[in-house]
Amino acid sequence: MSDRYSLLILPGDGIGPEVMAEVVKVIDWFQANRGMAFDVTHDLVGGAAYDAHGVPLADATMARAQAVDAVLLGAVGGPKYDVLDFSVKPERGLLRLRKEMDLFANLRPAQCFDALADFSSLKREVVAGLDILIVRELTSGVYFGEPRGIHSDDNNPENEGGRVGINTQRYTSGEIRRVARAAFELARARGNKVCSMEKANVMESGILWREEVTWVHQNEYPDVELSHMYADNGAMQLVRAPRQFDVIVTDNLFGDILSDAAAMLTGSLGMLPSASLGAVMPNGRPKALYEPVHGSAPDIAGKALANPIACILSFAMALRYSFGEGAAADQLEAAVERVLADGVRTADLMGPEGGTPVSTSQMGDAIIAALEA
Ligand code: NAI
Ligand code: MG
Repeated sequence: MSDRYSLLILPGDGIGPEVMAEVVKVIDWFQANRGMAFDVTHDLVGGAAYDAHGVPLADATMARAQAVDAVLLGAVGGPKYDVLDFSVKPERGLLRLRKEMDLFANLRPAQCFDALADFSSLKREVVAGLDILIVRELTSGVYFGEPRGIHSDDNNPENEGGRVGINTQRYTSGEIRRVARAAFELARARGNKVCSMEKANVMESGILWREEVTWVHQNEYPDVELSHMYADNGAMQLVRAPRQFDVIVTDNLFGDILSDAAAMLTGSLGMLPSASLGAVMPNGRPKALYEPVHGSAPDIAGKALANPIACILSFAMALRYSFGEGAAADQLEAAVERVLADGVRTADLMGPEGGTPVSTSQMGDAIIAALEA
C-alpha cells in the first residue's frame, strides 16, 4: 500500500464538529508518533453545507469524496433545518455520498467494553466480551426496489380507505454475491465465521440470498465457517446468546433492524462506530465512509458534553479497513478500553452511582494519554 493516506473530513452539524475535533487530535498523534502520513482535507456536509452553498453536499465535495482513500463524517441535521424542502435536507447529503460512492456494505460492530457491561440491557454474563460485526447490504432491497408508491385501489370495493401502499424487495445475484464476499473477507480477519440471515422460508428473495451466499462460500471461501438463520430467529438469538456470532451478513431491511438491536446490547449511542464500504479501487483500497452511528444531538450540542468515542472508533475502523493499519487500530481501541477501565466517563456514560463527567475534549485528551502510555 502507498505510504500516504488521504482523508476527507466532513464534521457536519451539531456535535459533529465537536467530536471530530477529538479525532483530529488522534490523527495528529498517529502522524507524530507512528510515522503515518495523512493528507487531510476538511469540507462541509449537511446543514453546514446548506448554509454555505444552498445544498447539503456541493458537487466539489462529492468529487473530493470520490478521490480520497476514506471519508470521515461527523453527523448531519438539526431543528434549524427541519423546515427545509426534502430535496435539500441535511440527510440528503449523506444519502448522496452513500449512493454515488456505491457503498453497498455497511459494517456495524457491536462490541462490549468490559467497563460498560452494566450499561447493557442484558446481563453482564451474557454480553461481557461480546465482539460481533453485522454487515448490512446498504444500496438495494426493499428500500429501493420498484414498483413502489401509494396508489388508489378504487376498483377494489372491499378495501376500506381505497388505497394500497407498495414496496418491492428485489435483489440481484450480483448484489448478494458482492456483499457476501465482503462478509467472508471480514470474517477471515476475525473469528472466521459468517452467519447469513434472511427469510428463505417465506420470501423468494431470501431463497436467492441463501443460494448465492452458499455459492460464494463454496467457490471462494470454503475455509470460512458458514451458517444460515431465519432473520426472526436471528433477532431472538441476538438477545439470547449474542456471543455465538462473529460476522452476520444480511439484507438492507433486516440489517437496519438487527444492527440497531445489536447496538443496544453494548450500551450508549455515543460509543458506536460504523463503516460503509464499496468496490475496491485500483490502489487496492475500498471506497469508504466512516461515521458514528449517532446523530447531531442538538440537545447537547455546544455544551462540551458529547462523547467523542463513537467517532474515534470510526477512525479506528478507517485505520483497519482503508489503510491496512490493523495494529494501530488495535492500539487505538485498547486506549479507549483503558480509559473506560480507568473510570473516565462523559455524561452519557454516567451510571446511577454518579461521579463527575469529563468534557468532550477531556475524553479526547485521556485517549491520547492512553496512547502515550
Ligand atoms: P441523536 O443520535 O442525535 O441523539 C439521540 C440521543 O442520544 C440524544 O439525547 C443525544 O444527546 C444522545 N447522543 C447522541 N450522540 C451522543 C454522543 N456522541 N454523546 C452523548 N450523547 C449522545 O438522534 P436524534 O436526536 O434522533 O436526531 C438528532 C438529529 O440528528 C436529527 O436532525 C436527525 O435527523 C439527525 N441524525 C443524523 C444522523 C447522521 O448524521 N447519521 C443519524 C441520526 C440522526
Ligand atoms: Mg436504523
